[in-house]
Amino acid sequence: MADECFGEPRLAAIYDPLDPDRGDLDAYLQMVEEFGARTVLDVGCGTGVFARRLADRGIEVVGVDPARASLDVARAKPGSERVQWICGDATSLPPMQVDLVTMTANVAQAIADPVAWQQTLKGAYDALCPGGRLVFETRVPARRVWEGWTPESSREVIEIPGVGAVETWVEVVEVAEPLVTFRETFVFASDGQALTSESTLRFRERDEVEADLAAHGFAVEDVRDAPDRPGAEFVFVARRP
Ligand SMILES: C[S@@+](CC[C@H](N)C(=O)[O-])C[C@H]1O[C@@H](n2cnc3c(N)ncnc32)[C@H](O)[C@@H]1O
Repeated sequence: MADECFGEPRLAAIYDPLDPDRGDLDAYLQMVEEFGARTVLDVGCGTGVFARRLADRGIEVVGVDPARASLDVARAKPGSERVQWICGDATSLPPMQVDLVTMTANVAQAIADPVAWQQTLKGAYDALCPGGRLVFETRVPARRVWEGWTPESSREVIEIPGVGAVETWVEVVEVAEPLVTFRETFVFASDGQALTSESTLRFRERDEVEADLAAHGFAVEDVRDAPDRPGAEFVFVARRP
């Protein structure tokens, strides 16, 4: 089941305005060019920001996500008809042979269940053409970013056109490394409704991810830095031979 922040319609509708700076996607767009990809599967596409940017460049895109409310937001955007949207995950894909599979914005960490993670890697491998690549990021565990996720440091009020002011904050509920569970709260000034969303992320070590990729037949070509978050992320580039 999708976390509320992606699966609850009122929260999915404010995902983009709450995080309008998507400079994190630039490195992925560059990799699409670098690898000459013409067909892309975006796993965990959410509200479709990346998928639409690809479609705007004439790339054939499939976006898959289990959160129907996020896909509804994606489908309502202009140009969305150029993307094939699938409600599900990498285990429920039709047969395809794409040049590139992406998981942007730490989708890999949201797939916290070990079995679901293995199935996702298998699904990505099966969806790729020989020579195609899987690229994704995951936060560096040693940075212990969750230690900074406090209500005091995260509290903000954002004015969203058509919605009004929304106050948000984050609090960590449990740290049981490698799992970290946190709760986000959203208070809508227009009617006072307060919604919460609880998420669990898995912080995987670089060696562990490399071993998982190899076990599924991938050749790990590179582990890069995220240019917009230096030292904070592992960005894996894995090739299907
Ligand atoms: C932080 S959001 C990122 C969304 C999008 N990639 C972006 O760049 O905005 C994480 C997404 O992962 C999705 N997700 C969670 N579990 C998943 C799974 N098992 N397979 C695919 N996507 C999943 C969530 O529904 C959510 O849309």
